[in-house]
Amino acid sequence: MTQVKIWAVVPAAGVGKRMQADRPKQYLPLVGKTVLEQTINRLLQADVFSAIAVAISKEDPYWPELECSKHKKVVTAAGGKERADSVLSALKSLTERASDNDWVLVHDAARPCLTSADIHYLIGSLKDDAVGGILALSSHDTLKNVEGINITETIDRSVIWRVLTPQMFRYGMLKSALEAAEGNSVITDEASALEMQGLQPKIVEGRPDNIKITRPEDLALAQFYMEQQQ
Ligand code: C5P
Repeated sequence: MTQVKIWAVVPAAGVGKRMQADRPKQYLPLVGKTVLEQTINRLLQADVFSAIAVAISKEDPYWPELECSKHKKVVTAAGGKERADSVLSALKSLTERASDNDWVLVHDAARPCLTSADIHYLIGSLKDDAVGGILALSSHDTLKNVEGINITETIDRSVIWRVLTPQMFRYGMLKSALEAAEGNSVITDEASALEMQGLQPKIVEGRPDNIKITRPEDLALAQFYMEQQQ
């Protein structure tokens, strides 16, 4: 039997409107590099990936300027309209090299605080699983259902998890699930494409410092976490 390989896919073709910055959020500065370089460095440091496929918008002038865009393990793919389109495009860029049975970890460009420990924990937890799964966080806060500003009920928080990345699935299964879901705007992460196939991805508890840069204040928080991690 051939050795199962592990690939990384980084969707990095978003514009990040909520940052209100002059450039997409993945190119904002964070601890001496851009957010995207920090994210890719974290994946390279884990030393488990055969290659890292990064989906980049075709109007993006920043990517070719980054040193990591020329790294021998980094493959550039075209970005798509939605996140799921960008992920599918990056998966297709690996078609010649990846086997259906290989694992793929999809990780947001905007999550630069991912640790090697979390990458290894996710892989170790799921490597013998039939479907795969995702890093997630349990909720410490009480959760409410709300209509307008009126609380209608309190939700049982033990059954609610906040979704993080990486999300880890078999190459063939993920590609066909995303192809089947093309054009469906409900697909905001890879797990939902698999769920649409009637499959049940697992959750693996991740670290709370694996934040997604969404709003301006998140950059200061990411800087704090990165300094704490050293
Ligand atoms: O906007 P949001 O933070 O949810 O995006 C998550 C990730 O998906 C980001 O890394 C973003 O660059 C990426 N994305 C993409 N292609 C799109 C939209 C978002 O690669 N069309």
